[in-house]
Amino acid sequence: MEYMGNKEYWDDKFENRSDKPLSAEKSIIENIGYFKKGSVLDIACGDGRNTLFFLGEGFQVTGIDFSNKALERLNRFAKRNNYLVHTKQIDLSVINSLKNIGTFDNVLVNHYRLSKNQLEYVRECIADDGILFVCGFGWKHKVDTKIRKDDLIQQTDFEDLNKSFKLIKYSESQDDRGFIVTYIFKKIKS
Ligand SMILES: C[S@@+](CC[C@H](N)C(=O)[O-])C[C@H]1O[C@@H](n2cnc3c(N)ncnc32)[C@H](O)[C@@H]1O
Repeated sequence: MEYMGNKEYWDDKFENRSDKPLSAEKSIIENIGYFKKGSVLDIACGDGRNTLFFLGEGFQVTGIDFSNKALERLNRFAKRNNYLVHTKQIDLSVINSLKNIGTFDNVLVNHYRLSKNQLEYVRECIADDGILFVCGFGWKHKVDTKIRKDDLIQQTDFEDLNKSFKLIKYSESQDDRGFIVTYIFKKIKS
């Protein structure tokens, strides 16, 4: 699905941002200890504020997004820091776009809502004992012209993950952006 807008919307947004990445998501920084050392797939990474944070922490990171403008910025920021980053332009509204993406120790989904169908592919690309970290606007967030009801993470989104994942942490927070939820799942050994 598209989150908040289509590719043109996001390309335009990234093209008009200052030449500096935003800070990483607070919840990721606070919960860094839950991630398994190794690799991270950052789904809908944007221009990479979180990817850059993980690179700085010594993870190998692949960032995927449908906005080439976002990925160009991420590659530029990484180069500036002498970080090696992998990026791939992927449209997540294409049903099997995550098929054969590889295997990762961690998957991060920050401020993007995956469909249940995409979550099935995500399940397959996480290593045993790996982490699925999801953070973003939750169901109590007030819908406005930017965030649609369909963009809000619902508790039922993850009900099909029960057999392969254990929820190890859930938290809610309210800040000036709105109502934010964090889910940290650990993959059970198959
Ligand atoms: C709110 S931004 C979040 C970016 C980043 N995860 C962060 O936390 O800063 C949402 C991102 O989703 C991407 N996106 C939206 N729909 C998408 C789609 N169908 N396929 C791939 N990326 C998409 C946008 O390009 C944008 O980078």
